[in-house]
Amino acid sequence: MSIQIPRGTQDILPGTVELWQYVEQQARTICRMFNYKEIRTPMFEHTELFQRGVGDTTDIVQKEMYTFEDRGGRSITLRPEGTAAVVRSFVEHKMFGNPNQPTKLFYIGPMFRYERPQAGRFRQFVQFGVEALGSNDPAIDAEVMALAMQFYQSVGLKKLRLVINSLGDAESRQAHREALINHFSPRIGEFCSDCQSRLEKNPLRILDCKKDRDHELMKTAPSIMDYLNDYSKVYFEKVQQYLTNLHIEFVVDPNLVRGLDYYNHTAFEIMSEAEGFGSITTLCGGGRYNGLVQDIGGPETPGIGFALSIERLLAALEAENVTLPIEESIDCYVVALGEAAKDYSVSIVNDLRMAGFITEKDYQDKKIKAQFKSADRLQAKFVIVLGEDELDKKVVNVKNMATGEQHEVAITELVAHLKEVR
Ligand code: HAM
Repeated sequence: MSIQIPRGTQDILPGTVELWQYVEQQARTICRMFNYKEIRTPMFEHTELFQRGVGDTTDIVQKEMYTFEDRGGRSITLRPEGTAAVVRSFVEHKMFGNPNQPTKLFYIGPMFRYERPQAGRFRQFVQFGVEALGSNDPAIDAEVMALAMQFYQSVGLKKLRLVINSLGDAESRQAHREALINHFSPRIGEFCSDCQSRLEKNPLRILDCKKDRDHELMKTAPSIMDYLNDYSKVYFEKVQQYLTNLHIEFVVDPNLVRGLDYYNHTAFEIMSEAEGFGSITTLCGGGRYNGLVQDIGGPETPGIGFALSIERLLAALEAENVTLPIEESIDCYVVALGEAAKDYSVSIVNDLRMAGFITEKDYQDKKIKAQFKSADRLQAKFVIVLGEDELDKKVVNVKNMATGEQHEVAITELVAHLKEVR
């Protein structure tokens, strides 16, 4: 029996990979504009990093991590997300000591979660994420959201919805936590076993439960908005003010709870509103995580960021019928007739490539007609023919496929000629 690809993963083949390259390039361009620098961290980390960073009570840590013991007996986990690893690296390399703060970083790379595969949900997926560490200015919250929105818009998405919430600071969260416990306690027996264990550990997570989402207590649950202290309230208002100033539309949803434990203050998600986009509409998620650097052993440092997956972005592009401007054609195809010309064509092809022309030739010993057909299939802009007569005269025949024009050009002049006419 042949061996097949693991469930929840995919091969990205030529024809599709160009879409990935395009959107990844776009991400890099936008990050350059916003002055975020790339960081590359390992694909696996010590398991403890995610237990401490992402949070022991989250689905990610409890159910979804690829964890194994390596040959040295260490517990290792394939990264399920990027933030904890970036923060580990920030602390390990003492980036907080750099004169330029905040430290603004981005990453593009595979993440791994053992989830039930379905449309838009993979076990290996690629996240593009940014993290800004070291600033408590609400303007950086707005900047991070603006970056995500601009990125999506730059690849052609239009039907987007930015949803924001504030989870408040530690004091606000504590007050809200107590209110949630008081609210759910009397009837916690009616909830699923996960929610029962969440009640004491992390009652906020109950609001995010998929099984119990229709329970009547969910609708009447105390809203964080009523528990924000003055600092948190003003902070959230400032964030909204900045978004408005940037002409970024958003809606406030006090029930927006993120699936990771490290968040406080600003939390946000960007959804696709495209018709026909699957049931999972969240394209991007992020928020502020002011205690995380300390949790991971660094000095008190605020942080905010987001991550989005390329898989869901491409699905959203498809749902909105956006075609990316992918250039598939090649510049030159060199057709050779006869042994001597074939030998010589190798050097011509190489010279053209060195001069920057995307160039191809035949390697299958094809007849002339079939070589022309290949040139056609590859959408070559110029077909360069080298027969024995041409070789004797040290010339080639250059055919411009768009205009049908043909010219005899000296081999020594070929590059200069193409540069002039292309
Ligand atoms: P997250 O909400 O777990 O947050 O994931 C962010 C995004 O990754 C999602 O909105 C979705 O686009 C994508 N994603 C997650 N799981 C899958 C999957 N199984 N298949 C395909 N795409 C998926 C985080 O990961 C945080 N680290 C974000 C963050 C950065 N917060 C602050 N900084």
